Amino acid sequence: MSALLIKNIKQLVQVREERNSPVLGKEMAELPSIDNAWILVKHGIIEDYGSMDSCPEDPKAVIDATGKLILPAWCDSHTHLVFADTREEEFVGRIKGLTYEEIAATGGGILNSAKKLADTSEEELIVSATERLNEIMHLGTGAVEIKSGYGLSVDGELKMLRVIKHLKQSHPLTIRATFLGAHAIPAEYKKNREEYIRQIIEEMLPVIADEKLADYIDVFCETNYYTPEETSRILEAGKKHGLKPKIHVNQFTSIGGIQVGVENQAISVDHLEVMTEQDKKDLAASNVIPTVLPSCSFFLGIPYAPARELIEANLPLCLATDYNPGSTPSGNIPFVLSLACLKMKLLPEEAINAVTVNGAFAMELQHELGSITKGKKANLIITKPINSINNIPYSFGSNLVETVIINGYVQEA
Ligand code: NIG
Ligand code: FE
Repeated sequence: MSALLIKNIKQLVQVREERNSPVLGKEMAELPSIDNAWILVKHGIIEDYGSMDSCPEDPKAVIDATGKLILPAWCDSHTHLVFADTREEEFVGRIKGLTYEEIAATGGGILNSAKKLADTSEEELIVSATERLNEIMHLGTGAVEIKSGYGLSVDGELKMLRVIKHLKQSHPLTIRATFLGAHAIPAEYKKNREEYIRQIIEEMLPVIADEKLADYIDVFCETNYYTPEETSRILEAGKKHGLKPKIHVNQFTSIGGIQVGVENQAISVDHLEVMTEQDKKDLAASNVIPTVLPSCSFFLGIPYAPARELIEANLPLCLATDYNPGSTPSGNIPFVLSLACLKMKLLPEEAINAVTVNGAFAMELQHELGSITKGKKANLIITKPINSINNIPYSFGSNLVETVIINGYVQEA
């Protein structure tokens, strides 16, 4: 199919000229749209669009979108969706009163996933991750970042990154890869963490750079995980190999992670559930994208990040899922939108900007994705017939995404 016309669109949402910066502050409440519109896709790219009074002649393929909205597909900039198995036993443990930190302290948590991944082949990981990618695609996701971090050994981390590289080539979604070797300290290096950090810097990074296995570097900068000083060293080593930082900070405690991200010109600092006034000031004075993950707060019962305050500080807030087996076993962006509106008091327009334009910026995909713009990839959502965009976060738990188009092709369910 080289040309596809979609016509009678009730509303074409997030129509913008290409931007050099993410949408920030007050601007986040604006979602430029065209009512009663058409869009023409050619060779997988958005060729043109307009209102129905200027609709071009029908090419061979036409979709009638009467009553339906079209949006750019979601850009989910933070996931760990390559993993070997679920961690349901920890879920039950938390219901009975254990905290995420208590579970981790007894060998559960990330180390539990690492143990399971060590016994799982690349082929098996590809099969399960492909199922997850297909699931999120049908919820409207068109681009996704995937982290390593359940290998926690030279072989394990490289295995995960090779799986992600395979997915990049085999799956229609646009995928970005992040190296998160510093996700936890492996049990065998508890008394010798320097040796594991040496392996990250001297053994993993050169191979990753050589085989082009990652786009970004991440560290879990947190009490009982990596200190700000260790984080800084690992990020600097990553940067020498061409990997820009996108890091986990301030999930449970504020220990200086935001400052390390700012100093190292991170693309984004992610989580931010626990922030001091100084953290907010330092972030507001930077160009780093704050990425918040409300479905992680929902699942763990931890505080929601102060998303409203970040918008009010004129920052370009980004929302993502954090899809992973421990803290967020869900890659459901429509649910993230509901939580962002209900728990963080974002307007639907703000939440949608945060998972489209700003999500694309948080993966440096702003030239190809994140808005309805001529020349961008035709990764599009066609909704069911609905009254307005407000219905998407309002109808929590429902999937109002009827059809997903990726690279110009309708993705059959
Ligand atoms: O982003 N906090 C660090 N990493 C993940 C959780 C990983 C896990 O529990 O497996 C997160 O929440
Ligand atoms: Fe995460």
